[in-house]
Amino acid sequence: MEVAPKESSGKNHEALKMEGAGFISHEGKTYREEENETWKILCQRRMEKLPKTASKAWLQGLEKLDMPLDRIPLFDELNERLEPLTGWTVRAVDGFIPAEMFFGSMARREFPSTLEVRSQDSLEYIQEPDIFHDVFGHVPMHTDPVFADFVQEYGQLATELEDQDKFDALGRLWWYTVEFGLVEEDEEVKLYGSGHMSSFGEADNVFIGGPEIRPFDLDEVISTPFRIDIYQPVLWVAEGFEQLRDSVAELRRRWAEELEE
Ligand SMILES: [Fe+2]
Repeated sequence: MEVAPKESSGKNHEALKMEGAGFISHEGKTYREEENETWKILCQRRMEKLPKTASKAWLQGLEKLDMPLDRIPLFDELNERLEPLTGWTVRAVDGFIPAEMFFGSMARREFPSTLEVRSQDSLEYIQEPDIFHDVFGHVPMHTDPVFADFVQEYGQLATELEDQDKFDALGRLWWYTVEFGLVEEDEEVKLYGSGHMSSFGEADNVFIGGPEIRPFDLDEVISTPFRIDIYQPVLWVAEGFEQLRDSVAELRRRWAEELEE
């Protein structure tokens, strides 16, 4: 999920109930055969590679959630498994999510996801996140206790900020970790970011020398602007998810000190 304006299509939402600003219930949501087929094709294609290229945390998350690979999952069934593990739940959102709602949601361990799936004629690339990106890509990582804490603490810190420069820094931290982060496992570089999980070409590009890969460095990450329309030219590989959680604590400490000065 990104904090980006999205057009609300409104289609297939007849069965959805408004639950409060921005959040919608997926109670009664059904998907057309073609939509489930799209999910199945996407899962099949990604699972040809991900068992070898994804981090253990993500792969184990897929199993812990018993993620259906042949049809689009409903959030109730995911939440039944996810919530007891880390206290996170997936919440359906429709359309544009204001930044404060996005961060507030993270701070409450609620992961906002769209319900729409990309169309079959744009399997490879879509500009806006769909349910494949949000659920298949992001949600398995939220079964990992350390990663789960990292994102919650990230959201909490963001809700306390007012300074645009600090928001920009946090936006970059999100981009280069949650979306396009790499982690070292058994001396190999593995994927865990949803940008990679839910894409084809960009994930492959990592393993053919496409991006420059550097050891995770918080200062580099938060000062490197990103573009959403190109393959990322530089990526950072973390030693583990503790390093991400620690980076949020480090920013909190630095920014608190700044306020005291
Ligand atoms: Fe995302």
